[in-house]
Amino acid sequence: SMPVQIAPSILASDFANLQSEVEMLNRSEADYIHVDIMDGVFVPNISFGLPVTEAIHRHARKPLDVHLMIVNPDLYLEAFRAVGAEIITVHYEACTHLHRTIDAIKKLGAKAGVALNPHTSVDLLGDVLTDLDLVCLMSVNPGFGGQKFIENTYAKVTKLKKLIEAKNSKAMIEIDGGVNLQNAPLLVEAGAGILVAGSFVFNSPDPLATVSALKKM
Ligand code: DX5
Ligand code: ZN
Repeated sequence: SMPVQIAPSILASDFANLQSEVEMLNRSEADYIHVDIMDGVFVPNISFGLPVTEAIHRHARKPLDVHLMIVNPDLYLEAFRAVGAEIITVHYEACTHLHRTIDAIKKLGAKAGVALNPHTSVDLLGDVLTDLDLVCLMSVNPGFGGQKFIENTYAKVTKLKKLIEAKNSKAMIEIDGGVNLQNAPLLVEAGAGILVAGSFVFNSPDPLATVSALKKM
């Protein structure tokens, strides 16, 4: 099977040196740059928005994996696509008309992802799974980097993997939150195809080596 893909989260980087942080990721074995957008409403924190995403994109040589932790994401899909989002992931919990939202993302030419909070069952995606490029399982409650990995995630990956196979979907499973070298091999074993890692990469003494180590899972 394909090697696991790594998506370092720029949320954990030094925002005062964003260009050099992006250039470091360009030199790394990362497959994507994960961009966490928080609106202070869907999650109890505010990160950054469109102009900063555009600035990241201006220097990035890796595709942007944009994770929208915002209410009413439909209002901003086109704008995030315009500033370089290659994957656009919306939250199941923020979408009343999820099928329409997925359709809108794909019509913009982006890959469509849906993220599930830790309490949200993978079974709820059964009727849209064949339309998705990615399912992001949150392994922490979204809003902050540096939180502890929730162990129930392994069981969710296993269950989602079975569901994806049963539906003949091509969706990749992405894990977001508290990923490190301890849980990464178990997540890959269970069926994860993309690992997001924020603080584990950026707080490590050698981020390039840490990305390489994760990539070897
Ligand atoms: C959490 C974000 C994550 C976060 C991951 O709300 O969606 O992408 O930045 O950071 P770590 O790896 O530190 O948990
Ligand atoms: Zn994220």
